[in-house]
Amino acid sequence: MKFPSDFIWGTATSAYQTEGGNSNCEWWQWELNKKRGQKYPLEPSGIACDSYNKYDEDFDLCKQLNNNGVRISIEWARIEPQPGKFDQKELDHYKRVLSSAKQRGLKTFVTLHHFTNPLWFFKKGGWINPKAPWYFARYAKVCAKELGPLIDTFFTINEPQVYALMCYTIGKWPPNKIDPIKSLICQINFIRTHKKAYKAIKSVDNYTVGIVKNIVWYEAYGEKPRFLDTLVAKFMFYLNCDFFLKPIKKQLDVIGLNYYFTNQIKGLKAIHPAGMVSNLNWWINPEGLKEVLIHLKKYKMPIYITENGLADSEDRLRKVFIKSMLVACLSAIQQGTPLKGYFYWSLIDNFEWHEGYWPKFGLVAIDRKTLERKPRKSFYYYAEVCNNNEVIK
Ligand code: FCB
Repeated sequence: MKFPSDFIWGTATSAYQTEGGNSNCEWWQWELNKKRGQKYPLEPSGIACDSYNKYDEDFDLCKQLNNNGVRISIEWARIEPQPGKFDQKELDHYKRVLSSAKQRGLKTFVTLHHFTNPLWFFKKGGWINPKAPWYFARYAKVCAKELGPLIDTFFTINEPQVYALMCYTIGKWPPNKIDPIKSLICQINFIRTHKKAYKAIKSVDNYTVGIVKNIVWYEAYGEKPRFLDTLVAKFMFYLNCDFFLKPIKKQLDVIGLNYYFTNQIKGLKAIHPAGMVSNLNWWINPEGLKEVLIHLKKYKMPIYITENGLADSEDRLRKVFIKSMLVACLSAIQQGTPLKGYFYWSLIDNFEWHEGYWPKFGLVAIDRKTLERKPRKSFYYYAEVCNNNEVIK
């Protein structure tokens, strides 16, 4: 049950969900200007976990977890508050954050874009604007120049297709559009953006650059699945995986995989069994993770699980969840998948987007009044796994 000796053990968070006070983002405005009768967001992000100030404390928790890596993101809106005007104070802030992680023996895996945008960029049409890749590459280059020496692995964009889906297909996130053409333009723009940003970062130095891709495993329902369901499942998986990754294959040094759940296709509908689900009703299926990992083998490059976790306010399933997901990882490794690390989502409870603060993903609970951090029981389980470099009972 041992993992390779150089395996990276970590946790993941994002800037907007934990820092607090990111008032220069479109999300902040959306949260403030909630209209009557509008359900989401359930609450504003506000101070979040105040990790903008409490990052030392957070990284101390990573150390207590015996981690040797950490995944965080940096906020574009802070670094480039006005188009082309970069804020040295904020760049220096992130230098302190990254140095703090380094001092605690953590390799840094840094996402440049995790869902939120500077207001100015959003007002220019955001990810629909044909110039979006150009704006983003300019920012990525500044990050590489200023922060590059403190970053072990760059990730350009977090879950580009989830963003397109939430913002332009189902319209739950700002700018709340239901427009499949815009959703497609957004995805194509992300492909263009990744390529351009990759080049921009590499022009500074030969840094390691990847992308973070949410991949859902799709399978046909039943022991003897119907032909049409099998076909639909294959197509959905293709759209969700190779459709996006193949065009950028040459501009990837590593792949970041976010795995949360599996969908079964039955009569053209996506369903899942009622049994093992998280508080968000996401089906816990480690087999799906194994399937995705084995599928990614063909890309012939290092893979990191950049997010995997569950909302579990009572910490009932978290230990079993981690254990069974790690067994799936081991089995994929045994079958030749170059899996190099695992980041549990999340270190601390945080702002779960339109849902607000009720879903509890953290190994560490946060008192919403005092912001005091309190490790849950599963925290100690994960700490032991990371220490021993193996799945333990
Ligand atoms: C992922 C997001 C992350 C977090 C988890 C639960 O899709 O990347 O920010 O919200 O889901």
